[in-house]
Amino acid sequence: MTDAKKLFVKTYGCQMNVYDSERMAEAMGAKGYVTTDTVEEADMVLLNTCHIREKASEKLYSDLGRLRGLKAGKPGMIVGVAGCVAQAEGDEILRRSPVVDLVVGPQAYHRLPAMVEAGGRQVDTDFPAEDKFTLLPDRKSLRGPSAFLTVQEGCDKFCAFCVVPYTRGAEVSRPVDRLLGEARALVAQGVREITLLGQNVNAYHGAAPAGQGGTWGLARLIRELATIEGLARLRYTTSHPNDMEDDLIAAHGDLPQLMPYLHLPVQSGSDRILKAMNRKHDAQSYLRLIERIRAARPDILLSSDFIVGFPGETDADFQATLQLIEAVGFGAAFSFKYSARPGTPAAEKPPVPADVADARLQELQALVTRQQRAAQEAMVGREVTVLYEKPGRLPGQMVGKSDHLHAVHVADPQGRIGQLVPVRVTASSTNSLAAVPVTAPA
Ligand code: SAH
Ligand code: SF4
Ligand code: F3S
Repeated sequence: MTDAKKLFVKTYGCQMNVYDSERMAEAMGAKGYVTTDTVEEADMVLLNTCHIREKASEKLYSDLGRLRGLKAGKPGMIVGVAGCVAQAEGDEILRRSPVVDLVVGPQAYHRLPAMVEAGGRQVDTDFPAEDKFTLLPDRKSLRGPSAFLTVQEGCDKFCAFCVVPYTRGAEVSRPVDRLLGEARALVAQGVREITLLGQNVNAYHGAAPAGQGGTWGLARLIRELATIEGLARLRYTTSHPNDMEDDLIAAHGDLPQLMPYLHLPVQSGSDRILKAMNRKHDAQSYLRLIERIRAARPDILLSSDFIVGFPGETDADFQATLQLIEAVGFGAAFSFKYSARPGTPAAEKPPVPADVADARLQELQALVTRQQRAAQEAMVGREVTVLYEKPGRLPGQMVGKSDHLHAVHVADPQGRIGQLVPVRVTASSTNSLAAVPVTAPA
C-alpha cells in the first residue's frame, strides 16, 4: 500500500460542506486515494469552499497563494476547488489562480474522479439531472459516533442577502428510502447520533418509501429514523421559521431521540428589515413560534443567526433586534456583519457605515454571550447525557456533547468513544461544561 496516493481536504463553511467533503474523499478513495492531514505530502489538494460572506471567499485565494510554492516543488500535484465559491466563480478561478487544475460545484462532485482521470484543467459547475448521491460510493469515512446526513439541498427562499439559492440551486429533497438506508448503514458502523442537514432542512419533502406514493415531510422522516435500533439521538439543521410545521413541533415533545436543541435563524428583530430581507416572517410571528416550540419541549435550547448592518438598518431597527434577543433568551447565537454578495438584491443598496455595523455587532455579541453563559451555568448541578466523541486533553478525561449540544469534559477514566453516559454537571467555563459520571447508587 506504499503507492497509495494521498488526498488533503480542507473544508470551509457549513456542515453541508463537511458532509460533501466526506463524500468527495470517499469518491477519491474508490480511485485509490487515502486522506492525509499533512498538506506537504499530498498528491491532491481539495479546497471545499464557502461563498456566504466576502471574508469566507477570500480565504480561498489566500490558501491558493500558499499552495503555489508547494506545487512548484511537486509538479504532479493536483489542486481542486469545490463548494460554493467554485459554483459562483467557475472558470474565473482558473484564470485568477494558475495553481488550480479542477473546479467542481456542489451538485457535480460525483464526477470528480473522472475529472482527475481525464487530467488537465477543467471546470464542472453543472446542476445535473442525475442524483449524485446514487452515484457515489457508500459512506465509510466516519468521524466518530456522531454523523451528518444531508437530506435536502438548495434553497428557494431567496433572502435578499444570501448566495445559497445561487450556489446550491433549487430545493431538492432526497428520497426517504435512500435516507433510511444511509442512516441504517451509519448505525451499523457504530453511529449513535445523526444530524440531518439541509440549507433549509425543515422544508424537506422527499419521495415516500416505495409503494406508498406522495412525499414525507421532515417530521415523518424523523419519526421513522427514531425507530432505528441503536440510533440514540437525532438533530437537524438549519431550519427556517416559516417551515416549522405542527407535526415537527409536536415531534420535539413526543420523541426522546430528538434532542432539545433547535437552531432557528431569525436574522433581525425589526419587521421593516425582515421585510427588506425577504424573510416573510415578522418578529411577533417568530416569538409566537418560539412559544409553541417551548410548549412542546419546555427545556429546549434555542439558537439563532443574526445579521447586523443590513442596508437601511437604523438604530431603532437594531434596538428591535436586541429586544427580540432579550425576549427569547438564546442558548447560543451566531452573528455576522452584513456582507454585500455579488448578484444578490441587497448588494445594490447603500451600505450602513462600517463603524456603525462594527459597534452593533459588538453590542449584540455581548448580549448573546451573556445569555449563552447563563444557559450554560443553569446546567450546573443537573444530570445530562453525554455522547463521548474523543478523549480530552487531561488524562482520564472524555469529551462529548450533551443533549443541549454543550461541549462537556467528563472525568471518566473508564470512558470509551461512542458511549452515551449520564453525568452530573459540576462547573461551567467559557465554552464548555465539566462533569462527572452519575454512578448508580450502591
Ligand atoms: N439556511 C439558513 C442559513 C444559511 S447561511 C437559514 O436560512 O437560516 C448561514 C447564516 O449566514 C445566515 O443565517 C445568515 O445569518 C448569514 N449570512 C448569509 N448571508 C450573509 C451575508 N450576505 N452577510 C452576512 N451574513 C450572512
Ligand atoms: Fe439563504 Fe437561508 Fe434565506 Fe435560503 S433561507 S436564502 S439559505 S438565508
Ligand atoms: Fe457557505 Fe455554501 Fe454552506 S456558501 S455556508 S458552504 S451552502
